[in-house]
Amino acid sequence: MIAISAASGALGRLVIQAVRARAEVVAVVRDPGRAPEGVPVRRGDYDDPASLREAFQGADRLLLISSPELDTARRIRQHLNAVTAAKEAGVGAIVFTSFLGADTVATGLTEAYHTTEQAILDSGLPYTLLRHPFYSDAFVPQVSNGEITSNTAGRGLNTAFRSDLAEAAANVLTGEGHDGHAYDFTGPLWSYPEVAEALNVTYREAPDSGPMSWISAQVRTGALERQTPDLERVLGRPAETILSRAQTIGGR
Ligand SMILES: NC(=O)c1ccc[n+]([C@@H]2O[C@H](COP(=O)([O-])OP(=O)(O)OC[C@H]3O[C@@H](n4cnc5c(N)ncnc54)[C@H](OP(=O)(O)O)[C@@H]3O)[C@@H](O)[C@H]2O)c1
Repeated sequence: MIAISAASGALGRLVIQAVRARAEVVAVVRDPGRAPEGVPVRRGDYDDPASLREAFQGADRLLLISSPELDTARRIRQHLNAVTAAKEAGVGAIVFTSFLGADTVATGLTEAYHTTEQAILDSGLPYTLLRHPFYSDAFVPQVSNGEITSNTAGRGLNTAFRSDLAEAAANVLTGEGHDGHAYDFTGPLWSYPEVAEALNVTYREAPDSGPMSWISAQVRTGALERQTPDLERVLGRPAETILSRAQTIGGR
């Protein structure tokens, strides 16, 4: 049996869809009222270790989907609760949705991921680490007044869609030969000016606001230009490009 935690979220639902045709799957959710339909459900709250121990019983493999908690200390506690519960419940293997750079950078965005990876290694459980890039879903360029704008200095982004990352997770959860591997998943490199050119609209650099301004600053340093073959290899096909969805919502 494969258990998927945080299964009521966007990624969890996609993984459940991909796994349910191939294997017995249990959705672990903190609120059963929000569980995906059509699969057995167990309650497992990252803040409630006992619920996790119970929920993970009998799992040959567990997909631990990272918590959306913004407070790093609490997020770390939640992840460590889940790793400890997985060990105590005797799960056969743990697959964790980590983040690119978590192996080398232990501060800021990657701190909780780094600490969790270490705890998984220390647990002695068979493991696979799926280091995710930023999700393309939040970056699909919007054509507005015949132009695309960004504050990325034309640098590249290695984002990937949740749907591809979910399928890759399903392949790892239902396949063999992934134990002990850490995959650095990156999507096909793209830039905002390239998308504008492909859609035949104007591109313009413009300031942005909110969480996007922090990410844009990262993009401008070239921090999102790293490419690896891992996602394509685990998928057994190329990952979806941003252009495939930009075109469908495009226009002038
Ligand atoms: N790489 C990226 O660009 C990126 C972007 C966004 C998020 N992420 C990370 O990837 C994860 C999955 O993304 P997503 O898009 O599926 O996020 P999402 O749609 O926001 O789903 C988050 C999930 O976490 C669950 N959750 C929240 N608190 C919990 C707790 N205390 N115990 C157990 N489950 C809890 C939520 O349950 P409820 O349904 O009950 O709220 C929900 O199922 C996120 O949680 C976040 O860590 C990565």
